[in-house]
Amino acid sequence: MTVKEIFETMEYGPAPESAAEALAWLVDQGDTFGHFIDGAFTKPGKGFESRNPATGEVLAKLTQATQADVDAAVAAARKAQPKWEKLGGPARARYLYAIARLIQKHARLFAVLETLDNGKPIRESRDIDIPLVQRHFYYHAGMAQLMETELPDAQALGVCGQIIPWNFPLLMLAWKVAPALAMGNTVVLKPAEYTSLTALLFADICMQAGLPKGVVNIVTGDGAVGEMIVASDVDKIAFTGSTVVGRRIREATAGSGKALTLELGGKSPYIVFDDADIDSAIEGLVDAIWFNQGQVCCAGSRLLVQEGIAERFYAKLRARMDTLRIGNPLDKCIDVGAVVDPVQLQTITSMVDSNTVGHVHQAACELPANGCYYPPTLITGLETSDPLMQEEIFGPVLVSSTFRTPAEAVELANNTRYGLAATVWTENVNLALDIAPKLVAGVVWVNATNLFDAAAGFGGVRESGFGREGGWEGLSAYTKPKGKAKPLAKIEPVAGEGGPVDPIDRTAKLYVGGKQARPDGGYSRAVWGKAGLLGHVGLANRKDVRNAVEAAAGAKGWSKTTGHLRAQILYYIGENLSARSDEFAHRIDAMTGRKDGAKEVDAAIQRLFTAAAWADKYDGQVHGVPIRGVAIAMKEPVGVIGALCADEAPLLGLVSAMAPAIAMGNRTVLVASEPYPLAATDFYQVLDTSDVPAGVVNILTGSHAELAKPLASHLNVDAVWSFSSTDLSAQIEVVSAGNLKRTWVNNATAFDWGMDHSRRFLQASTEVKNIWVPYGE
Ligand code: NAI
Repeated sequence: MTVKEIFETMEYGPAPESAAEALAWLVDQGDTFGHFIDGAFTKPGKGFESRNPATGEVLAKLTQATQADVDAAVAAARKAQPKWEKLGGPARARYLYAIARLIQKHARLFAVLETLDNGKPIRESRDIDIPLVQRHFYYHAGMAQLMETELPDAQALGVCGQIIPWNFPLLMLAWKVAPALAMGNTVVLKPAEYTSLTALLFADICMQAGLPKGVVNIVTGDGAVGEMIVASDVDKIAFTGSTVVGRRIREATAGSGKALTLELGGKSPYIVFDDADIDSAIEGLVDAIWFNQGQVCCAGSRLLVQEGIAERFYAKLRARMDTLRIGNPLDKCIDVGAVVDPVQLQTITSMVDSNTVGHVHQAACELPANGCYYPPTLITGLETSDPLMQEEIFGPVLVSSTFRTPAEAVELANNTRYGLAATVWTENVNLALDIAPKLVAGVVWVNATNLFDAAAGFGGVRESGFGREGGWEGLSAYTKPKGKAKPLAKIEPVAGEGGPVDPIDRTAKLYVGGKQARPDGGYSRAVWGKAGLLGHVGLANRKDVRNAVEAAAGAKGWSKTTGHLRAQILYYIGENLSARSDEFAHRIDAMTGRKDGAKEVDAAIQRLFTAAAWADKYDGQVHGVPIRGVAIAMKEPVGVIGALCADEAPLLGLVSAMAPAIAMGNRTVLVASEPYPLAATDFYQVLDTSDVPAGVVNILTGSHAELAKPLASHLNVDAVWSFSSTDLSAQIEVVSAGNLKRTWVNNATAFDWGMDHSRRFLQASTEVKNIWVPYGE
């Protein structure tokens, strides 16, 4: 070809990356792998083949882990853990740093192996996946270094079971392994069955780095092995993958006390306003939905375009799609590579084929004859209720609809059961910053998309799961407070009969929507103290839970108030409680038969003042991420929090949960101490005189065991906490799997209410949303 001819066509020539080194590494390993347990590879056993999805060629044979393998891996991790933790942060930092350096040294080998195994373009594995992996290990080496000074109250969880998907095989490993090791945990990790090879190369790196044996263990296999890890004796499960499996893991771990983080699916909106830089927004879409063949949990897969520019935008987008280069992922000129496996290809194909509405455009490209390829696809003219607007396709398929006003854009964007990410495209900074906080998502990108960094926590809300990976917030998922947990003692109400009968009916009602309400069922029970009958309380039922949740959900305005205002109201509650402290102290003493009522009231007043103090200070951060821009980590309220309050501390338990929750802008449904409910019912008057808006605090009395289920299953409740002395942990966590609520349950361990745990409550009361905002040079 002459230079003139090249200029005429402007065609890219092929620029293939050599697979030789990666294939040689596989040959060196004998093309057959066992697991990596206790610092060494095990003998290969019965298993399955790992194939290159671009060609169908077998790359290696992998071993399907047996129960004995999983047990051995967990035992090795358990044995290694105390020593690893005791090494101390700075010593662990050295290992993580060494791993980061070694990955950097072998970056090209990792990139090629990843592309061979997964089918993603080498441009991506070389320029995105592997650099982010290194960054993650470097960043967390720093976190290990800082742990002792910056997180003095935190300790490792122990052994972490980690189950990862196939879309970013090594990156997901890094996201899981780096923070776990930094905080002193040891791990048993299972890569996805389609893409285990870079995890096995990582095992080799661990050996080269001299990592103590048993700190990292890697077992290969399918979902059955994942289930074995979930059931094994680990202290935490960290999972990334489908919402279906995430929900199953939530159910399987319910009540076990295992910590859990779930990073699940999404159907993330990509909103383009009519004043957007259209060419940039289109280029952004290439990164949003055709990056990694759309197999990205936070892919901008749902395009929402403002009506006035829609036709022009679609025309340009179709033209851009037709220039996308699809083919051999090892070719450096390729934009779109192979889908991970024939099974995934079939899923994508059948989802698109089943769609009967809208207009389908597929990129005018020639697909390679063999291998798992699917053309970049755009489906326009869909309604928000159409299945493809709601279901995650996890392929290179973009669906689209239009909107007229910013308010409608927000409404459509949030019309999903997911809440992982969102993209906003506009030249108007006011509009962008107005919209970003309104989007229900863990990450929002402004005039950019699919940006990631170890410093900016990643994770979702709603059915996209819970927990964050990366940043300071990611670390809490790998630590627990120092100290040993004490077992919980069940507290029974004081029994009694006869006694003084008050001629006036003193049946305390429920407190719903700022008013006292009779319980729906019309039942009440007597509350006895040692000295006799103290009164009656209403017994709430599921209808009362519904009413309370409705009231809380309706009090949305509270979440939009300022911390300054919330602080004032909390101070006011504190003052009003203080004015009646003797009365509350006597009431508590009379119910419990103890003599520490005054102390409890004092502590409750302190909690209120502390929450007031924090209301305008528990700030987010601005992360200096390595782009020309910032990631603003905003702390947002979780929403509606339902809490079964402590039985043993009838006022302090309720206030300790309520105050930080409302300080952060949440609305609450609190179930009072079951045996000693009257401090909570007396508290209504304090709330009434303290300007607390109706619906922000709702208080029910009754049986914790009966109210736990309706609370945990209600779809308008976003988080459920239980500090009840009846251990309802399992029941709450199973039921909360429905809409994947955040849970905080006591697993039959006692809380020391005398200690101020405000920070833990503040953390549980907030979700971090990272808003990425680029700026100029
Ligand atoms: P998956 O959720 O089944 O697999 C993810 C990981 O979980 C793999 O390591 C798998 O072996 C393991 N696993 C499967 N069943 C398990 C169980 N019962 N207990 C414990 N671990 C288990 O995802 P899959 O089947 O590979 O893909 C299906 C769909 O899931 C995709 O089409 C996509 O929609 C979604 N997906 C979402 C991902 C995300 O990052 N959000 C990643 C991968 C898939």
